[in-house]
Amino acid sequence: MPSYRVVADGIPEPLAAGSGDAARGRTLIVTRESANCVLCHTVPDAAVRFSGDIGPSLEGIGTRLSIPQLRLRISDNLRVNPATVMPSYYKIDGLDRVAAQYAGKPILTAQEVEDILAYLVTLK
Ligand code: HEC
Repeated sequence: MPSYRVVADGIPEPLAAGSGDAARGRTLIVTRESANCVLCHTVPDAAVRFSGDIGPSLEGIGTRLSIPQLRLRISDNLRVNPATVMPSYYKIDGLDRVAAQYAGKPILTAQEVEDILAYLVTLK
């Protein structure tokens, strides 16, 4: 797994070579598979009928946080808040209680992080 550079509270460079695809990112979120963000966050999307409220609503998140800040929060929110319950989706070391299916690999691929990021920036 390639490493990334953290500057202040963000990751400035893209994790994947290809650019993020917002439509794919939306699909990852609304289908509730590995990126089950709506377990904890409300997303302003008609396809999401039920969602949790453990985390803040993601409505308007594209105006509240920059792209590097969003990239770090998706990849490794533990670095932003060591007490967070949010999974670090692009990290393999320093984690507790990793499910067997995820041992040694991140929950999302680098491309999936970029796709989700491309979707989040559309939430203005
Ligand atoms: C188990 C619950 C949980 C899941 C699943 C989860 N989050 Fe979070 N998230 C949180 C909580 C709680 C916070 C509040 C801050 C903290 O704990 O660090 C947060 C914070 C955030 C923030 C910063 C919000 C702000 O206003 O500063 C973003 C962005 C975010 N999450 C995106 C995502 C995305 C995208 C996914 C799916 C890939 C996801 N989260 C999955 C619980 C979760």
